Amino acid sequence: MSASVPVLPDSAPFSPEQRAWLNGFLAGVFSRASVPSPTPNFQLPTTSAPSPLLITFGSQTGTCEGLAKKAAKEAKKHGFAPTVRDLAEVTLSTLAQTPAALVITSTYGEGEPPDNAKTLHAALASAEAPRLEQLHFSVLAVGDRNYVKFCQCGKDFDARLAALGAKRATPLAECELGHAATFTKWLDTALAALAAATSTAQPIPTNSELGTLNPEPEGDAEPAFHRENPFPAPLLAVRRLSGEGSAKEVNHIEFSLEGSGLTYAAGDALGVVPQNDPALVSEVLAVLGHSGDEPVATAAGDRPLKAALLEHLDLGKPSAELLATLKVDPAAAPHHVLDALHAAPNGMPAAADFAAALRPLQARLYSISSSPKAHPGQVHLTVGAVRYDLNGRARKGVASTFLPERGLTEGKVGVYVHTNKGFRPPADAATPMIMVGPGTGIAPFRAFLSERRSTGATGRNWLFFGDQKESTDFLYRDELLALHADGFLTRLDLAWSRDQSAKVYVQNRMLEHATELWGWLEAGAHFYVCGDANRMAKDVHAALLRVIETAGGKSPEAAAEYVAAMQAAKRYQRDVY
Ligand SMILES: Cc1cc2nc3c(=O)[nH]c(=O)nc-3n(C[C@H](O)[C@H](O)[C@H](O)COP(=O)(O)OP(=O)(O)OC[C@H]3O[C@@H](n4cnc5c(N)ncnc54)[C@H](O)[C@@H]3O)c2cc1C
Ligand SMILES: NC(=O)c1ccc[n+]([C@@H]2O[C@H](COP(=O)([O-])OP(=O)(O)OC[C@H]3O[C@@H](n4cnc5c(N)ncnc54)[C@H](OP(=O)(O)O)[C@@H]3O)[C@@H](O)[C@H]2O)c1
Ligand SMILES: Cc1cc2nc3c(=O)[nH]c(=O)nc-3n(C[C@H](O)[C@H](O)[C@H](O)COP(=O)(O)O)c2cc1C
Repeated sequence: MSASVPVLPDSAPFSPEQRAWLNGFLAGVFSRASVPSPTPNFQLPTTSAPSPLLITFGSQTGTCEGLAKKAAKEAKKHGFAPTVRDLAEVTLSTLAQTPAALVITSTYGEGEPPDNAKTLHAALASAEAPRLEQLHFSVLAVGDRNYVKFCQCGKDFDARLAALGAKRATPLAECELGHAATFTKWLDTALAALAAATSTAQPIPTNSELGTLNPEPEGDAEPAFHRENPFPAPLLAVRRLSGEGSAKEVNHIEFSLEGSGLTYAAGDALGVVPQNDPALVSEVLAVLGHSGDEPVATAAGDRPLKAALLEHLDLGKPSAELLATLKVDPAAAPHHVLDALHAAPNGMPAAADFAAALRPLQARLYSISSSPKAHPGQVHLTVGAVRYDLNGRARKGVASTFLPERGLTEGKVGVYVHTNKGFRPPADAATPMIMVGPGTGIAPFRAFLSERRSTGATGRNWLFFGDQKESTDFLYRDELLALHADGFLTRLDLAWSRDQSAKVYVQNRMLEHATELWGWLEAGAHFYVCGDANRMAKDVHAALLRVIETAGGKSPEAAAEYVAAMQAAKRYQRDVY
């Protein structure tokens, strides 16, 4: 990333000492290759009121929301008056009156904005978007390099804000999950640049059309166990949910959180730290011709190669660095590290070089399928095992097979809670909720129903569930039927895709019951979707629009506005992957 050094504008009301310090700081930060440490101790001029700063986040599963809160704490220390807002609550007119903003956003789908950023993203792209000359901004784009359109949403915000005349306080920063140093460096730099640019700014307007400004969140205390320090959770149970003869293997997993101090809410996800399959590790060592005792460097410190391959290094998709190390043509597109080793024309690398070219093994997220109110001290997951054949080899997903195959023998598995405040049952116990969760998408809705049952919530509950075959794939069949039989689950509509010649999916059931579904929406129901992002969530979205058009008698444009309003009011929430 190329970084031009921002310089304090002459109009900035600083004393000569303050100006010299800030300019020096900016130059230092922009020329530094490593993270500034410790955090620079710059302050806004003590004579001026705290400078307003809008910190806004686009986030599907809470990562960027968490970063926005961290940014606010840091900004406060530096004399700003930060306001944290969900991008769904930020309008063009807010931006047009805002002097300084940090935008922190993830990317979803294939380069798309997360749900809560969609409306503003589209509004900024429209020809009617106003000029934003008075706005000074900096964007942190969060993404994953495994996706072709890496950090695309952040790039779009950065480009569009600049095109509308807003002043880029610092260059766009691109950040991958777990790259805390990138975040810290970006934040330090952006705060210093914004302090310089906007210390005479007016307060951020309280925009009446926003209605529900979220107050600046109180800093949640960091739990003792988190992503960087996972809790070794005793694995209590593994139970197969899919029946004999199913094409799928879905497992119900239970962990104990006793003694961890970890808390979660229905809608949160659990991060699971997996280990690689020992059989795969042995095969890799055999191809390498190494014993496994060779010391190599990992993020956790030096380890023997075998232990590093089991616990710390990713043996999935090979990195560009590994292909270069092995002199394998990327066009050959080896799927796994083992394929790349087999394709290497010039022999095997030294253990240390091999390890250095592997990505770190990452935790996987799973939507929590229990409510802490119903199962105190426990957390449950619903995990579909990934198994497939490719190029004549049986392959398996790391985490989804580690849990059922070796979790119980390992005894304890590293876990952490991934808060997802954008995916919650209705706060009002009387609000109806509609849940669409085929396949493993059922997970959070088991938690939602359990939560509502435990708290005696009176709102009506409607679940659309489906999978391939009723006889083998009806996950949590007895629980769901019991909830339906006693009326707590007001409606249960099921779609079995392979029990007849024509496919029947959850969205077919939605359309069949369009009039009633529209009635629930008009009664204020929240609409939730969980599961497959690529196909199902898109088709369910289209079906929702169709229901609003047909049963609600709205034009396609009016239906789109209705859904956008639901999204902005957090009545349409998705947890899709
Ligand atoms: C917020 C969130 C919530 C989630 N909740 C759940 C949940 O509740 N339940 C659940 O089961 N999962 C859930 N997931 C998915 C989960 O995190 C993992 O991605 C999943 O279990 C696979 O992980 P793994 O380590 O087993 O597979 P990996 O080792 O990561 O392998 C998966 C990779 O294998 C490749 N692959 C898979 N199938 C094929 C194929 N047929 N052909 C070629 N390549 C293939 C793909 O490259 C794929 O990315 C969730 C994900 C997110 C982000
Ligand atoms: N990131 C990962 O590595 C990873 C790992 C595991 C799962 N996942 C995702 O998680 C999803 C959930 O997996 P799952 O096995 O639990 O369920 P699933 O594949 O979503 O299947 C559940 C049901 O949805 C149906 N379906 C297929 N296409 C659909 C569509 N366009 N609209 C609505 N329904 C549709 C399926 O029917 P048919 O099968 O008969 O078509 C099946 O009946 C997967 O699809 C996958 O995208 C991702
Ligand atoms: C289904 C799915 C699609 C994604 N698509 C992209 C993408 O196209 N580009 C990208 O850079 N990151 C992509 N990501 C990665 C997310 O942006 C990344 O995990 C981010 O940390 C999520 O932040 P959030 O929790 O704030 O939403 C995707 C993640 C998922 C689960």
